[in-house]
Amino acid sequence: MQAAVAIREMQTGDSDAVSGLLLELGHPVDAATVDANLRLIQSLSPLHAAFVAVKRHGVVGVISAFATPVLHRPHHIGRISILVVTDALTGQGIGTALLLRVEAFLRHLGCDRIEVTSASHRLQTHKFYRRRGYVQQGVRFIREFEGQNAA
Ligand SMILES: CC(C)(COP(=O)(O)OP(=O)(O)OC[C@H]1O[C@@H](n2cnc3c(N)ncnc32)[C@H](O)[C@@H]1OP(=O)(O)O)[C@@H](O)C(=O)NCCC(=O)NCCS
Repeated sequence: MQAAVAIREMQTGDSDAVSGLLLELGHPVDAATVDANLRLIQSLSPLHAAFVAVKRHGVVGVISAFATPVLHRPHHIGRISILVVTDALTGQGIGTALLLRVEAFLRHLGCDRIEVTSASHRLQTHKFYRRRGYVQQGVRFIREFEGQNAA
């Protein structure tokens, strides 16, 4: 039988494990940077949050999200900035548990929509979101500023 997963707010002690998860997703961010980012998330705004999924052997997934007011809508928009479950434990409901936790957080803040971006090649992930009520819409444009990516 699989051990249950617990979802809780991310703490600074989780930064090493989260750094490893982000590396799995293709974001090589060291633990110190994750730690600094978490402290900002925790201190700047109650509209931001990060949660981790914990099993017996430690942190196995992470999600972060924020709500933002916008001029053109009456309610805040929710935005998932990262979601990753360690590859060895996918397909066990951990991603769904993290998503449900963030949806509750964002609804509590008054969001009436949630947005998330997923790389074009992650077809399994697209299926994951579609099956959970998310609809593909629009096109994303990115402009990178030179010199800002040195960290
Ligand atoms: C997408 C992701 C978060 C799902 O987490 P998970 O714990 O495997 O999800 P669950 O077990 O709750 O749900 C499994 C569902 O996700 C789908 N899925 C997506 N990627 C999967 C994978 N690598 N392995 C198994 N199932 C996967 C399955 O098809 C399944 O669909 P269904 O339940 O609708 O039939 C996880 O696979 C992951 O971290 N993927 C890589 C990173 C990524 O794409 N993150 C999102 C970017 S914002």
